[in-house]
Parts: sequence; structure tokens; C-alpha cells
Amino acid sequence: MFNNDFLYTTKNGRAIVGDSLELMKHIPNESVNLVITSPPFALQRQKEYGNKDQDEYIDWILAFTKEVRRIITLDGSFVIDLGGAYQKGIPIRSLYNFRLLLRMCDEQEWKLAEEFFWYNPAKLPSPIEWVNKRKIRAKDAVNTLWWLSKSDFPKADVRNVLTEYSGRMKKLLENSSRYYTPKKRPSGHDISDSFATDNGGAIPSNLLQISNTESNSQYLSYCKSLNVKGHPARFPSALPEFFIKLLTDEGDLVLDIFSGSNTTGWIAEKLNRKWLSFELDKQYLAASVFRFLDDFDLERVESIYQSLLYDDSAEIDLEKELFPIVDWIESSLTPITKNKKNNMDIQSTLFEVAN
Ligand SMILES: C[S@@+](CC[C@H](N)C(=O)[O-])C[C@H]1O[C@@H](n2cnc3c(N)ncnc32)[C@H](O)[C@@H]1O
Repeated sequence: MFNNDFLYTTKNGRAIVGDSLELMKHIPNESVNLVITSPPFALQRQKEYGNKDQDEYIDWILAFTKEVRRIITLDGSFVIDLGGAYQKGIPIRSLYNFRLLLRMCDEQEWKLAEEFFWYNPAKLPSPIEWVNKRKIRAKDAVNTLWWLSKSDFPKADVRNVLTEYSGRMKKLLENSSRYYTPKKRPSGHDISDSFATDNGGAIPSNLLQISNTESNSQYLSYCKSLNVKGHPARFPSALPEFFIKLLTDEGDLVLDIFSGSNTTGWIAEKLNRKWLSFELDKQYLAASVFRFLDDFDLERVESIYQSLLYDDSAEIDLEKELFPIVDWIESSLTPITKNKKNNMDIQSTLFEVAN
């Protein structure tokens, strides 16, 4: 069952090929601090977009969310990114993302800690029929992100994700007496002079404006040079970065159950969190290794990619070859060792990471 599921490792994480529903069964209860993921969207998965298909899609996802609830810690979180969708053939929205949320809360006892909206200003106008041709709908540029938890007080610290102060606020902080006099608002709300304290940044809102335009990334540049198709539905690294910083501490374990090009694992590595990434498609996960191969010779990158993709049973130890190239102090990447034995005990590996 686990033949070659274990694709590569880094200092902090493991990328594993397989069906995450199966793989999650090997993770102990309450051992993952954050699961963050972007599932295959309903309309990408289904050829027919009728309501029945959408209900089936929700049932399909619910099987995963049930396992996620089992494996996250009591103060852990689950963040799920869902794109909007129209019903088939008509300019009426699908309610699948809202239905999923309601069913998770009603049937699986999830709590909605907060809803977030990811606004991608760079999103191309779509759907073409309603937006570009008939011009009867605005372009759809917002995804819903449900931040769910098991308990009323999931671990979170908004001070880890402060944003830059506005120009006005910066001026106020420079010279608070000139711009602001503490007084009671008409609402009766008492705003004291602590308002003018510099907290290092502003509290972010639940509208995350992030353009999905990482066209210069190392991942895409290696994809292009090696003629490898990049993952078509990547999310920007700023998205998992925000939630990893908000909801976990260094050393905590982050899991992405639909990891694609492993954006989540890569950013978790940088933030010194442990990570696990599950992905059904071996090619996607093999190419995700590009993210970790900083300043590598292109030929080496290609041979690593090829061996991850095709060399199922070979005993490959890349450590010796990588050793002279990797700067072990600067880079967090430790030996990328291919699973040497097909009968590797994945459960103990997962357990090891979880602890
Ligand atoms: C929307 S993409 C995720 C992209 C990812 N966030 C990134 O930045 O690259 C969803 C991924 O889920 C994978 N997938 C679908 N069913 C799966 C399953 N049962 N187990 C694991 N992965 C699955 C698909 O192959 C696809 O790559």
C-alpha cells in the first residue's frame, strides 16, 4: 500500500505521495497543530456541474474533514480554501462552499473561528460567458477560507501577522498630540491615548489581499527550464504563511492534505515548522522539490527530479552528492533521501514527525 509513497524529506518535513484519506489514518489522534489546504475545486473535479454533483463533492470532502478533526490538537486549527463557483449553464452561484461549512459545523461539530476572504486582484475575469461576453456579472476574485477549530480558543496570536501601518497611522504615531486628542466617541466608546502606541504594525483584517503572481519563483523557473508543467492551481505562499504564523509556533506540525506543488511545506520549512505534505499525483510532488533546491546546477536539479519521478526501487542516496553543493548552515535542506525500501514503515515515520 505504501510503495514509494515517501518521496523526499527535508530538515523539517516529509512529502508523501498517496491518497490523503488513507494516509491520515496513520496519524495519531490530536497530533497536528494546523491543517491548511486547498482541495481540488468542485468544478475542476466534476465534468457535470449539477447540484447532485456538488452534493457528492461535499460528501467527498466531508470524509477528509472528519479525519482532519480527529488528528488536529485540541487547540489546533483547520484552514480550508474554497474557490467560488457558478451553477452549470446559469449565472447563479453555487452554494457548495457555504453548504460544506454548515455541514462541517452541524454534522462534525467544527467551530467556525473566523471566515477569511482571499482577494486576488490579479485574477483574470471569469466566467467568460457572464463576465466578458454578456457583461452581466462582476469578475469573481475572492475565495472563501474557513478557519475552523475543535475548541472555542484555538491557539492564535495576531501579533505574528501584523501589517504595515497606513500612512495616516504612521503620522499619528510620529506626532500623536498633533493628530489625535483622546476623547469619548459619540458611540460612548472611550479611545484612550494608548491608541497612539506603536505596536509594530496594524491588526490585519479578514480580507487578505494577495496577488497570485509568483511568476519569478524558483519553482516556476525550474519548471520552465526543464519543460515540466507547473501545477495549475497553486496558491501564493503568502496565504499559508499568514495562517502558519497566526496559528502555530516554531516546531509545531503543519499538514497539507492536498499539497500539489507543496507551497505549504516550503513555507513551513522556512518558518521552522515541521510539515507533512500529501499529494495523490506523483509528478506534482516530484516537481515540488524544485522549491527546495536553491542555487543548484540545472543538471543536478533535473537528475533529482527524474530520480524522484521514475526511480521507484533504486537505492538512491542523494546525500553524498548534495553534500558539497548545499550550504548546510544557510539552507534548511537536509539530505534529500529517496525512500530506499518499498516496505518502509510509514506509520512510524508519521508518528516521528508528529512528535
Ligand atoms: C488545488 S490543488 C492544491 C494546490 C496547492 N495548494 C499548491 O499550492 O500547489 C489540489 C491537489 O489535490 C490533489 N488531490 C486530489 N485528490 C487527492 C487525494 N485524495 N489525496 C491527496 N491529494 C489529492 C490534486 O492532485 C491536486 O494537486
